[in-house]
Parts: sequence; C-alpha cells; structure tokens
Amino acid sequence: TTRVKKICCLGAGYVGGPTCAVIAYKCPHIQVTIVDLSETRIAAWNSDKLPIYEPGLDEVVFACRGKNLFFSTEAERAVIEADLIFVSVNTPTKKAGMGAGYAADLAYVESATRQIAEVAKSSKIVVEKSTVPCRTAESMRTILEANSRDDIRFDILSNPEFLAEGTAINDLLHPDRVLIGGLQTPEGQRAQQALAEIYAQWVPTDRIITTNLWSSELSKLAANALLAQRISSINALSAICEATGADIDEVAYACGRDSRIGPKFLKASVGFGGSCFQKDILNLVYLSEQLNLPEVAAYWKQVVDLNEYQKKRFVSRIIKTLFNTITNKRIAVLGFAFKKDTGDTRESAAITLCKDFIQENAQVRIYDPKVSDEQIFFDLSEPGVVNSTIALKKRVTIAGSAYEASDKADAIVIATEWDEFKELNFEKIYEKMNKPAFIFDGRLILDAERLESIGFRVHTIGRANV
Ligand code: NAD
Ligand code: UDX
Repeated sequence: TTRVKKICCLGAGYVGGPTCAVIAYKCPHIQVTIVDLSETRIAAWNSDKLPIYEPGLDEVVFACRGKNLFFSTEAERAVIEADLIFVSVNTPTKKAGMGAGYAADLAYVESATRQIAEVAKSSKIVVEKSTVPCRTAESMRTILEANSRDDIRFDILSNPEFLAEGTAINDLLHPDRVLIGGLQTPEGQRAQQALAEIYAQWVPTDRIITTNLWSSELSKLAANALLAQRISSINALSAICEATGADIDEVAYACGRDSRIGPKFLKASVGFGGSCFQKDILNLVYLSEQLNLPEVAAYWKQVVDLNEYQKKRFVSRIIKTLFNTITNKRIAVLGFAFKKDTGDTRESAAITLCKDFIQENAQVRIYDPKVSDEQIFFDLSEPGVVNSTIALKKRVTIAGSAYEASDKADAIVIATEWDEFKELNFEKIYEKMNKPAFIFDGRLILDAERLESIGFRVHTIGRANV
C-alpha cells in the first residue's frame, strides 16, 4: 500500500482544523498542512487564540504546530507536496437556484476539486471529508480525471466526519467508528487501506469500517437524520407532557432504559441547532425528491418541521405566560451557542427565540460565555428582523454575565445548557428581577422546585405548570 507521508487539508473550519490537528498529534511521522482561502482564519490558527473554541483543541494544536502541523494559505504548494488531500470545505444549503432551501451547495467542493486537478504533479488520494449528497465522489472523480495529466492517478475516498462540536477532540481521539468508502477495485481498496493505516495509529482496527463510496456518503446523511429524528421525537412527546402532566425527563429515562432504545440523545430541548442536522436532513429530503421518492422526502422533512414547531411553541408559551405581551419587557437570554462548550451559533435555537422576542418589541439582554458580541449582532441582523443596526442595538444588549443579563429582567430564558447556569446564585438573581420573576428553562437543566421555593415562577419544556 501507499505510505502517506504528507497530508494536505483544504478547509480550516470546525472539521478540517480539529480533525487534521488530531491526525498530526497521533502521527508524528506525517506532515499535515491545513489550508484555507481565508487569511484571517489561517492567521488565527497560527496565533495564541485559535479561531474556534473546542475543549482540548489548544493542547493538541500547540503540541504539534510548527513541528508536523502547519496552517497556510498556500494551497498550491500544500497540494503539490501531499500524497493525500482531505477536502473539508463548507457545503451549506443552497440559497438560490435549483433546490434552493434544500440542496447542498457543492460549489466549494467543486472548486477545491478543480484546484487539485490543476496543480497536482503526482498521484493523489483525494478524500471527501465534507458532508455531501450521495454520488458526489463520482462527480469529483470525473472532474479530476478530465483535468489532469495522463501520468498521474487520483483515488477518491469518502471519509465522513462524525465529530460533534463541544466534544470534538474526545470524539476524534475515541471515535465509535471511522468510515472509509472507496471504489471496490484493487486501486480503490489500496487507497482505503492507506487511509485506514493512518487512523489505525490510534483507532482500534475493528472500529475502522470500509464500505463502497455510496454507502459511506449516504451513511453520513443517514446518521445525522436518525440522531435529529430522536430529538424531534422526544420534543414531540414534550408537547404531550406539557398538556398532560407527564414529565419528559421521566419519560425519556423510562424509554431509554430499554436497551433497544438506549438513553442517549433523548434530551428534550427548545430545538436542535448546529450547522449539520437541518442542512443534512434537507439535503436528504432533496435527494429523495430527486430520486422520485416523495413519501420518503416527506417523512424526513417532518423532523425539521417539528423542530421549527418546537421553537415556536416555546416562544408562544413565554408570551402567553407573560400576560400575552412582552413589549418593552426585559428578557434575559442565557446562552446563544447552539449547544454548550462551543462558540458556534450556526442555526442556534437562540437566534430564532431572540428574533421572535425582538419582533414582539421586547428588550433582549443576551449572555453567552463563549460567543462574541459581534457574532450575536451578526446573527440577529438578518433583513426583516429590525430595519437597521441602530434599531437592533436599541432592542438588544449584550451582558458580561448571567447576573448582569438578569438585572431588572421580567424573565430569564435558558437557551443553551452551559454548566455555569446550573451553579448560579439564584437568590441573588431573584432579588434584582422584576416581580413576578419568571424562568423558562428550554434545556431542562435547572432545579425547578428549588427555584420555586425562592419565589420564581418556573416553566420547563416537557413539564406542565399546575
Ligand atoms: P466551515 O465553514 O467551518 O469551514 C470550511 C472552510 O473551508 C472555510 O474556512 C472556508 O473558507 C474553507 N474553504 C472553502 N473553499 C476552500 C478551498 N477551495 N480551499 C481552501 N479552503 C476552502 O465548515 P465546517 O463546519 O468545518 O464543515 C465542513 C464540512 O464538514 C461541511 O461539509 C460539513 O457539513 C461537514 N461536517 C461538519 C461538522 C461540524 O460539526 N461542523 C461535522 C461533520 C461534518
Ligand atoms: C452533530 C452530530 O452529533 C455529529 O455526529 C455530526 O458529525 C455533526 O452533527 P453537532 O451538531 O456538533 O453534531 O452537535 P450535537 O451534539 O449532535 O447537537 C446538535 C443539536 O441537538 C444541539 O443543538 C443540541 O443541543 C441538540 N440536542 C442534542 C438536543 O436537543 N437533545 C439531545 O438529546 C441531543
């Protein structure tokens, strides 16, 4: 088999950065260069303050940066030198044109592929790391073969990434499985073997799965769809709980104890966020429609629709509880990231909540331990929310702590499950709030009984208020 000595990764984002940093960390004999189009992103990767927050990431990067791990904007050189190239560029949902709102925008994957074809002077293994619709590897292969010299060959692999943000480093160090799809030809299998050897440096070989290309591509969409579907299922049940007096945490626990169901990913919430679930399901919906399978498309679409419903349902419960108006009321939103332990806000439920509060003319005061003020204003300044940045800044302020956010507030809304919110001094918070003081727990992290004994009126997702 080919022994990989140099790796290049196109795309220094949430996936390319951590994934290839861990490869460098575990494989000191391999030189890893991560490149990106964005100079500021690369400069940040080369600085003391990395562009993404991820527990354990600093240690891994600082241990190998400058030794066998490099961040660069010089894509050409990195591609020429590499034996193996990861394509880990963004594949957002298309905003316009055919499949707008559903299909993945493959423009970045295609231009990265063309870039490889253009500059390569020797044979390469090209690894599709980005999440893509089924059969994208086929297009990549066609482009590479049509644009390259006769004396070099390209082997395409699909190696989807299953890391979750907030636990990325742990997920990469101890993956449940690594999936490597390849063409079932001797050359394809040799390439699969070469990539498997890299992971085998730290992943037990029985966790390295090889499949054909299409199974690998589809498994990524399928895994995310199945995970998101569990959340929408539990969130659908949470609505029944609120109407009946059943408690969603108790229901989830009772169901999860069935070993066939299992306890993970059954936490009710204000709705799932993140850059992947919605995008990948819509991608699967589009794929199903393209394949003339409308019933299948409708089935998966419902997972996303239920998630939207869950967010709306929470907002309307808040407004109803606050005597049907939140105009000029001060709402403290605790958490803005889409989950704890990340600064990422892509598709965060908090964005939807805040936009709805702004539309109702509330005064929104947001605190998140890891999201920057600029990011929050950027996420909320979409057209249609308010007319101008000045108007937005009148409605929204950013607080430096949960205490500051809740000062003189009418209600606290827990949007992200940061651990520090469990440890707050709620007696102190209660004193400074307007009365009656409401807490809406969108993440089921607070001890409602204790808070009620302080005087709060607590509303929790998946629990009725008597
Ligand atoms: P990201 O937007 O954080 O990073 C992508 C990077 O690629 C950007 O910095 C962009 O500038 C760069 N880029 C685009 N074209 C390039 C080119 N031709 N050359 C060099 N750089 C280029 O995205 P991400 O979150 O890292 O996701 C990347 C892919 O991985 C997506 O397909 C996503 O669906 C998938 N994925 C993401 C996660 C996650 O948790 N974020 C998990 C699994 C899979
Ligand atoms: C997800 C997949 O888990 C990962 O395997 C894939 O590679 C990328 O997409 P990520 O989006 O980073 O990872 O985080 P995840 O932990 O899956 O959480 C996604 C959203 O679901 C978050 O908003 C989270 O708060 C929410 N969630 C998760 C719930 O509401 N309930 C749960 O039980 C679990």
